[in-house]
Amino acid sequence: MPSAQLPPTSPPDSPCGAAPRVQRRLPALSLTTHHWRAVLATLACAVMRSGALAATPFEDTVAQRVQACTACHGAQGKAAPDGYYPRIAGKPAGYLYNQLMHFRDGNRNYRLMTHMVEPLSPAYLHELATHFAGLSLPYPPPAPVTATAQTLARGEQLALHGDKALQVPACLACHGKAFTGVQPNTPGLIGLPRDYINSQLGAWQSGARRAASPDCMADIARSLSPADVSAVSAWLASQPLPADTRPAASLPEPPPLKCGVLMHPGAHAAQAAQKGGQP
Ligand code: HEC
Ligand code: HEC
Repeated sequence: MPSAQLPPTSPPDSPCGAAPRVQRRLPALSLTTHHWRAVLATLACAVMRSGALAATPFEDTVAQRVQACTACHGAQGKAAPDGYYPRIAGKPAGYLYNQLMHFRDGNRNYRLMTHMVEPLSPAYLHELATHFAGLSLPYPPPAPVTATAQTLARGEQLALHGDKALQVPACLACHGKAFTGVQPNTPGLIGLPRDYINSQLGAWQSGARRAASPDCMADIARSLSPADVSAVSAWLASQPLPADTRPAASLPEPPPLKCGVLMHPGAHAAQAAQKGGQP
């Protein structure tokens, strides 16, 4: 999408439009790391708004606007080292866009993310998603994972072969044979921290995270026991990274389950384009 369609970057159009609300909801005392990141995000926005960066004038580029995002998601969206803030750089654009819409529409629950995206138009969210998807940055090596050999073997079995008795297909059947994701809507599963994978599967089990219907990931997560969730998260998080971490262009075979998001892959993006550049 040409950048000419973007709204000018001043509140409430920018991601910073939501920042003061984020700040007000933070407890005044005992800030956790997570809250500190929110404060950092707020500060990044305050600086952007005040134009206080005399040496680097605000040029209204996407790179400058996304400083509010990278305060939490790590430099350029490479993920923060604590494992809580997911990497967004280099993930498929359709996937990132769908997630931003999910936070906005309450299909994923993380209040600070929802506040960030609530005031933004679909076209603007699409632009942010395209920006991060276009970044090709090296991944850090996987963090050491402590798990028994038996747990890792079970995780490997689920990831590579699935479990017929549980009607769980192999994770690679949709996430790509190297687990790097598939364009345009399927995320990779490598390079994600164990806690993050665990918490996302848990969120699908509890209904806190939803994807377009039929929600294949909800069916899969609900078929897995807590031990299976831990096993597959531990195995995935311990895998070395392939030489090429980019999402695959397509799947060799159709997905083994129906997933709404894979049945109408262009629906959201087309909608964003139609709605034009107004927030
Ligand atoms: C206050 C910290 C914070 C800020 C600021 C923030 N995020 Fe997030 N973001 C998070 C957290 C935490 C999650 C994971 C939430 C969860 O567990 O579902 C997340 C999740 C995401 C996801 C889903 C990632 C995935 O792999 O599913 C996307 C996309 C995203 N953020 C984009 C953005 C963009 C774009 C901005 C700037 C407009 C932004 N975020 C600003 C904390 C933040
Ligand atoms: C039938 C296809 C399919 C299979 C099989 C599948 N997935 Fe997925 N998975 C998806 C799709 C599609 C998404 C994106 C959902 C969305 O848009 O939110 C996804 C998203 C995810 C995410 C969220 C990633 C993130 O960055 O937040 C995790 C974690 C995940 N899958 C784990 C698994 C695991 C573990 C397995 C194997 C036990 C598995 N998936 C098998 C289709 C599949």
